[in-house]
Amino acid sequence: MTLLQDRTAVVTGAGGGIGRGHALLLAAHGARVVVNDIDAARAAAVVAEIAAAGGQAVADGQSIAARAGAEALIAHAVRAFGGIDILVNNAGNLRDRSFLKMTDEEFDAVWLVHVKGTFWCAQAAALQMQRQGRGGVIINTTSGSHFGNFGQSNYAAAKGAIASMTYTWAIELARLGIRVNAIGPVAATQMTHGLMSAVDGKAPEQLWLPERNAPLVVYLACDEAANVSGQVFGVGGERLAHMVQPHYGKTLTREGGWTVEAIRECFQREMPAEFGSLGILGKPYPFHGGVLPPPASE
Ligand SMILES: NC(=O)c1ccc[n+]([C@@H]2O[C@H](COP(=O)([O-])OP(=O)(O)OC[C@H]3O[C@@H](n4cnc5c(N)ncnc54)[C@H](O)[C@@H]3O)[C@@H](O)[C@H]2O)c1
Repeated sequence: MTLLQDRTAVVTGAGGGIGRGHALLLAAHGARVVVNDIDAARAAAVVAEIAAAGGQAVADGQSIAARAGAEALIAHAVRAFGGIDILVNNAGNLRDRSFLKMTDEEFDAVWLVHVKGTFWCAQAAALQMQRQGRGGVIINTTSGSHFGNFGQSNYAAAKGAIASMTYTWAIELARLGIRVNAIGPVAATQMTHGLMSAVDGKAPEQLWLPERNAPLVVYLACDEAANVSGQVFGVGGERLAHMVQPHYGKTLTREGGWTVEAIRECFQREMPAEFGSLGILGKPYPFHGGVLPPPASE
């Protein structure tokens, strides 16, 4: 069963981890794949794996953390395979640090690769898809971290921005036949090394195989998913979840608008019961008792 025969796919950050899994399965489904990674040797090794399995791929060592690199990557796909049909924005990095200690360098390094890299690659790819006139597919990579996660101001902000760009591009690019979705994967990779725990005596590497994220990418890329755009899915392990788009919840209206007094009169009665879980771990709202100043030190 080859769902992507004669399509060309670009996967960023595909020299290892989750992106490698995407590249291998896209190729197994007939796509010609540009395997991008800033670590060119690892990208070349993935190309060799694809070739050994009878697929078609080329390696690309551009950094997507610069507009010129992103544009050169898409141009490489056009040069090697005549165009681009599928872009998977997967490249990523981490610079975790608690909020009060995070530096500008740590914030900017993550923002650049995830947000600007995704923006530059998608824009170059969509412009090429527009020239080709046959539509296309963009799949971004977000994370449940964008719900909030300790030590990840930079990464949570970047992944939230990627989800927001996904919604926006789905709205803007539909007229060109371009679908835009995102996945929030989970995998034991070099990125999460030391951050995941064993469950029931099983090591993270056994539970969270990077390649288990790839089948959804193949499905979202194929024509059967023509009715799927602007959606985000949690995937990884044995899970396939719809990640619900933020939307307005309980809404109160007041003729003439709100005053502080009117808000004080009804807020505590109406709103706190609506506060759902907070953060990636889905813990019930933890602040019903109030967030109070620390006790004065003796
Ligand atoms: N592993 C998880 O549990 C998890 C969870 C949520 C989201 N994600 C996201 O999935 C994606 C893949 O993560 P992974 O776990 O496979 O990590 P990984 O570190 O194994 O893979 C990321 C790859 O991106 C490459 N890369 C980094 N900067 C680049 C650049 N400027 N240009 C080109 N390539 C670059 C790296 O060399 C690396 O090979 C990332 O976007 C990550 O944020 C991962």
